[in-house]
Amino acid sequence: MNSPLPFERPVYVSRPALPPLTEYVRRLESIWASNILTNMGPMHEMLELGVGERVGAGRVSLWNNGMSALLAAVSSLQLQRRKVVVTPFTFPATVHAISLLGLEPVFVDIDDDSLTIDPSLIEEALDPEVGAILGTHVYGRFCDTRAIDAIAREHDLRVVYDGAHIFGRYAPVVTDEPHRLGDITMLSFHATKLFHTVEGGALITADQETDRQLRLIRNFGIVNEHDVKGLGLNGKMSEVHAAMGLSMLDMMDAEIDQRVGVASRYVEALSGIPGLRIVAGGDGTVQYFVLRIDADQFGSSRDDLHNTLRSLNVISRKYFSPLCSDVEPYNTLPSAQNLPVARKAAEEVLALPLYGGLSLEDADRIAEIVSWHQKGGIL
Ligand SMILES: Cc1ncc(COP(=O)(O)O)c(C=O)c1O
Repeated sequence: MNSPLPFERPVYVSRPALPPLTEYVRRLESIWASNILTNMGPMHEMLELGVGERVGAGRVSLWNNGMSALLAAVSSLQLQRRKVVVTPFTFPATVHAISLLGLEPVFVDIDDDSLTIDPSLIEEALDPEVGAILGTHVYGRFCDTRAIDAIAREHDLRVVYDGAHIFGRYAPVVTDEPHRLGDITMLSFHATKLFHTVEGGALITADQETDRQLRLIRNFGIVNEHDVKGLGLNGKMSEVHAAMGLSMLDMMDAEIDQRVGVASRYVEALSGIPGLRIVAGGDGTVQYFVLRIDADQFGSSRDDLHNTLRSLNVISRKYFSPLCSDVEPYNTLPSAQNLPVARKAAEEVLALPLYGGLSLEDADRIAEIVSWHQKGGIL
């Protein structure tokens, strides 16, 4: 068995899509003409409308990144109880948004299929100090929002979703089913995402008063030139970032189509390999393309596959690993000790490169490396 040739340059797990420079410069010229750089200027307002149309439900506010948006979302709940139920299978930002506010995360294990927080385990984690649930829509796949909504109603809990991955293929991303949004849903527009503003994010809420509160928090709590009300931060998205978002919105469907092409190529080449399951990307979500490797059936571990890919210049990513519950300062919490489903998932998941600019030939080469490795190929 000949070993595959390494890629000449590293192929990263994602590569930001960029609009034609002339398009972006045209928008920059308009910023130069207006001399308005931030504080909810014209680009910001246009993008807020554009994202809102695409989301298709609730009220959308733009933020300077997903993390500050999530922090603001949790802080806007003004929880009287000091604990928040959260998934361990997420990006650190999700859990930090609880802890930075002086609240305590309570980890609840995930569902083995969706990899999102398991609603059937939430109730046993509740005590009188739990005031909210924070779930992550992993890889663009929704949590069981209907079940979570039912638990929240019964126990008088607030619900926030980290939807960093959901602004993608499905428009409207949030349907008019009210349970989909929780109280507030966050989106990330980081450069690694399908749609980006370089750095950026958004919050969606169906409630007018919550939206008003969030907008106050976004601007230091400033109501008007005479009045400041409550705590706030600087969460504003600049005009330069909003201009990038407008240019990206124009090409979002093309980016999605290209990703669907790449993902179907992977699906074709990787289906049927023993011990390999496609857990995201094959179903059209195309934010990430994620494999799950069962070491016994596959014949080697996820880490071995990751290393082989890396030696051939393919930089796959163990996303999400380590678990948030396994790192400081969270690993000493009682709720961090027994999360077998999440731990296994963190040992088995591997995200392959997926972005519009990845050629189908390169996707084929990457899939061939996976298949060659599974057959016992050694470099
Ligand atoms: C699940 C999740 N939550 C939160 C974030 C943080 O978003 P941002 O980078 O926009 O601050 C990310 C970023 O990748 C993420 O994947």
